[in-house]
Amino acid sequence: MKRKGFFICIEGLDGCGKTTQAKLLVRKLCEKGFDAFYTAEPTRGKIGKFIKKYYLHGEKRGSVIVEALLFAADRFEHVEKEIVPALNEGKMVVSDRYIYSSLAYQGAAGLDLKWIKELNKHAIPPNLAIFLDVKPEIVLQRLQRKKSVMEKLAIQRKVREVYEKLVKDGKLVRVDGNKSKEEVAKDIFNLVLKALK
Ligand code: TMP
Repeated sequence: MKRKGFFICIEGLDGCGKTTQAKLLVRKLCEKGFDAFYTAEPTRGKIGKFIKKYYLHGEKRGSVIVEALLFAADRFEHVEKEIVPALNEGKMVVSDRYIYSSLAYQGAAGLDLKWIKELNKHAIPPNLAIFLDVKPEIVLQRLQRKKSVMEKLAIQRKVREVYEKLVKDGKLVRVDGNKSKEEVAKDIFNLVLKALK
């Protein structure tokens, strides 16, 4: 069945500015008359809250396999309860992180990308997936709050390598995140307009 709505996800390292950009994009799309809404992973649902509390902000990083399973479970609910119903109503969905975060973060920690993909086979493909690229050294400088278990230079470097591979494979479109907030927003909006055509 042809999809009525349009599904965009924005990916990147912690602190790369994707939340700001995802929200700016939604605002701009709404101004242009689209019925767009912002959503994020991990979600605000039960599994997402559990992940944030016990896995991202725990004392130290736990099992990577459990991480992958939990993110996949959270995503399954996200897709089933929020994304698909919105797309069926013809809405534009902008998700701050999606399956590529699992490939990048849990893949960077050593899990087989094929297994992560299999685990997430119910996650419908987005119409456009953007990688907002900012260097690990810069994102970590930007983060002022208490850092999560993922926010370490060695981890962020490996995560970026996987994102770069996904760009090379044509799964993600790279946007330079080092420009001003306004310029990045313009670049993202132009990509979305192109994808909509
Ligand atoms: P954020 O809410 O600031 O984007 O942080 C979410 C963290 O969770 C971030 O460090 C990336 C991580 N994460 C994964 O490791 N795997 C995933 O599948 C998702 C969605 C997030």
